[in-house]
Amino acid sequence: MRRPLPLSAAALALPLFFLLLFSSTADAHNITKILAKHPEFSTFNHYLSITHLAGEINRRLTITVLALDNSAMSDIISKHFTVGTIKNVLSLHVLVDYYGAKKLHQLSKGTTLSSTLFQASGSATGTSGYVNITNLKGGKVGFGSEDNGGDLNSFYVKSVMELPYNISILQISKVITSADAEAPTAAPLSLNLTEILPKQGCKAFCDLLIATGAAETYQSNIDGGLTVFCPTDAALNAFLPKYKNLTAAHKVSLLLYHGMPIYLSLQMLKSNNGVVNTLATDGGAKYDFDIKTDGEDVTVKTKVVTATVTATLIDSEPLIVYELDKVLQPRELFKAVPEEEDEAPAPKAAKKKKTKAPSPTASDGEEEEDADSPIGSDESDGEPEDQKSDKDGAFGSNGQRSIVAMILSLWLSVLLV
Ligand SMILES: *[C@@H]1O[C@H](CO)[C@@H](O)[C@H](O)[C@H]1NC(C)=O
Ligand SMILES: *[C@@H]1O[C@H](CO)[C@@H](O)[C@H](O)[C@H]1NC(C)=O
Ligand SMILES: *[C@@H]1O[C@H](CO)[C@@H](O)[C@H](O)[C@H]1NC(C)=O
Ligand SMILES: *[C@@H]1O[C@H](CO)[C@@H](O)[C@H](O)[C@H]1NC(C)=O
Ligand SMILES: *[C@@H]1O[C@H](CO)[C@@H](O)[C@H](O)[C@H]1NC(C)=O
Repeated sequence: MRRPLPLSAAALALPLFFLLLFSSTADAHNITKILAKHPEFSTFNHYLSITHLAGEINRRLTITVLALDNSAMSDIISKHFTVGTIKNVLSLHVLVDYYGAKKLHQLSKGTTLSSTLFQASGSATGTSGYVNITNLKGGKVGFGSEDNGGDLNSFYVKSVMELPYNISILQISKVITSADAEAPTAAPLSLNLTEILPKQGCKAFCDLLIATGAAETYQSNIDGGLTVFCPTDAALNAFLPKYKNLTAAHKVSLLLYHGMPIYLSLQMLKSNNGVVNTLATDGGAKYDFDIKTDGEDVTVKTKVVTATVTATLIDSEPLIVYELDKVLQPRELFKAVPEEEDEAPAPKAAKKKKTKAPSPTASDGEEEEDADSPIGSDESDGEPEDQKSDKDGAFGSNGQRSIVAMILSLWLSVLLV
């Protein structure tokens, strides 16, 4: 397990890297809509949606989907996998790089390894989340997972749709076999928030959720989408004297004020810029706050305090948990600070120390000078994306957090749909 650690950790930072680099408002594509025009992929399309992979595909700017037609999908269906396992299997079919039909047939040295969403999910053991693509005799192109003993068990069929360097959908003949992706994942469809939060640096807040019963409200909102703003333990402990002064009902309101009943990715959060409702919002009681983007920082303003998002602790649609440097104080419970005397802006979120991940074994395969590489595209430097993410990820990862994130992610993937 030594080598894979930094690789997986870096891969985890990848979505963040994209979110931070491109804070455009709209999704880059809509895979559901594209595939809807091709009924032979309806089963594949259906499972991309229920596993939430569609959302991940849509958010990525450079992606290749290896699509399976309905008859190829029957191999998966007949194995009666849990949704969590189907998610792992299908995420191995989403390459986090652009391969048009042309590039596919002109691989330098005739072979390459591509990282996938399975690798990025942190669920893959070692490099089993890489797909080997190899040009074979007679213009055939074979695909196999890295953990499949060199067996390329699936073949290129045709190009379904290409939007150069953004999204490519290629049909392949069969499910790419991978023992790791097909490993059973525990069945529970829903996450247990109070088990997850403490493991991910959100202990003090979680303890209060449990003590007051607010945890149940949070838990019941996960399936429909939930965004949690978790104050750091230090921020919460400093706030405790004020907290203890609140009535029991107001304690619950304050805690519910830190959740929103929708899933808001960092990208969506950044483009939100306005008033949002919370779990505490209830008829007359507004309990809302403002989300503001200030350069790289996202702040939450309540008219009493301004808190800054300092990290993303969990991002596993439909649940996302952000870390805040302060407890949010609603104006319903605390005295608002008049606009002009507004407290000094929250200090810039300290950029976490960045670590450099070693190159994946795949790097030689990714250096290819493909004829169709776009000038100035984010792929054109031929640098493996795992490394880029570590250099550029502003919420990047100090070693410890990465490992914690990876362990959590592994653990989450066991529970996740
Ligand atoms: C994508 O397209 C589908 C089908 O047209 C639609 O139901 C869905 O809302 C779209 N998703 C987004 C994020 O726009
Ligand atoms: C891909 O698999 C083939 C066949 O097992 C092997 O010859 C080739 O070296 C592999 N490619 C890479 C980049 O590992
Ligand atoms: C690819 O995505 C970029 C960034 O979203 C966009 O500017 C460009 O127009 C897209 N290319 C195509 C061919 O749609
Ligand atoms: C979550 O886990 C805790 C501790 O294991 C347990 O007490 C609680 O009942 C669980 N909640 C749900 C909703 O499963
Ligand atoms: C608690 O409430 C009392 C009475 O309203 C007030 O005097 C005191 O300052 C409050 N303590 C804190 C820490 O807010």
